[in-house]
Amino acid sequence: MAKLLKVKNVAYYYTAEGTRIRAVDGVSLSLPAGKALGLVGESGSGKSTLGKLIAGLLKPQRGCIYFAGERIEGKMLPSIQYVFQNSTAALNPRMRVKNLIEEGLIIQGKYRRQQRINRVLTALKAVGLPETLLYRFPHELSGGQKQRVAIARALIMDPRLLILDEPVSSLDVTAGARLLALLKSLRQEKHLAYILISHDLAVVRQVCDYVAVMYAGKIVERGKVEQIFSSPGHYYTKMLLSAHPSPDPKRRCLPKIIGEPVDPSHIPAGCRFHPRCPQATFACSHRPPAFFEITPGHLVACHRTQTQIF
Ligand SMILES: Nc1ncnc2c1ncn2[C@@H]1O[C@H](COP(=O)(O)OP(=O)(O)OP(=O)(O)O)[C@@H](O)[C@H]1O
Ligand SMILES: [Mg+2]
Repeated sequence: MAKLLKVKNVAYYYTAEGTRIRAVDGVSLSLPAGKALGLVGESGSGKSTLGKLIAGLLKPQRGCIYFAGERIEGKMLPSIQYVFQNSTAALNPRMRVKNLIEEGLIIQGKYRRQQRINRVLTALKAVGLPETLLYRFPHELSGGQKQRVAIARALIMDPRLLILDEPVSSLDVTAGARLLALLKSLRQEKHLAYILISHDLAVVRQVCDYVAVMYAGKIVERGKVEQIFSSPGHYYTKMLLSAHPSPDPKRRCLPKIIGEPVDPSHIPAGCRFHPRCPQATFACSHRPPAFFEITPGHLVACHRTQTQIF
């Protein structure tokens, strides 16, 4: 299948108080049009930074990003929209819903007033919000409604790829479920591709086709949703999965989360997960593991997997 997005070996390091933080440190992934990728990992693993690199909000210091066959590092395209983590805080409190949603179109300058209003109404309908909210300010909306306004703002630009950074983490269970159902239906209607950033694997399981698991700036495992959930290969993925109660007896045997995420300004040699991994061997502390394809399309970066000990 032709790839809409290809990310090749991108890296982004922040500098804070003289230390170099390797937030994204050599990540490659790809996504076909109309498919959804879940990007998971603990806090600080580099998910938002990777999302911002793909959206052109940050420019990688290394590597390339191709979108529909063109190189786009550091470029913000209307066809890639990023909905911020805590996007509701990113809504200008002085702007009404209508203006918030149409802002991107005004900047583009392509549409007349009436065309813009029609598009705002279509976007509002697409996210399931009533027209009565058009002239409200953000503080007059619920959290779920604000999140929908943020998504409408992105959708009005007719994106081909929508990057949603923790879209449901600030919502209650019902509002979250409604939003996930909305994302599913929009994908079918508009043939949109998604990158859904979430530390909640249950959310990813509901909405995504593929999963990439990040640890300390690297992807340690990727594959189809069913591969990752039914036969996780990396110890870290197993730990993340164990955090979600499941009736599946296989899942009950998963290892509990242990240790703390590594500090991205002091990344250990070898496999960056090895200080937390109870199964680490000599090789793990000396050589970074390459990806090993355990079944077609299911890749795991772990020395133990390569020697089939897991
Ligand atoms: N503007 C910044 N300046 C310096 N360091 C930053 C900046 N933004 C992020 N970082 C650091 O980069 C690393 C990756 O951060 P990032 O926000 O990408 O993680 P994340 O996986 O999205 O985490 P979370 O799940 O908490 O949102 C972290 O160690 C973070 O402290
Ligand atoms: Mg984040």
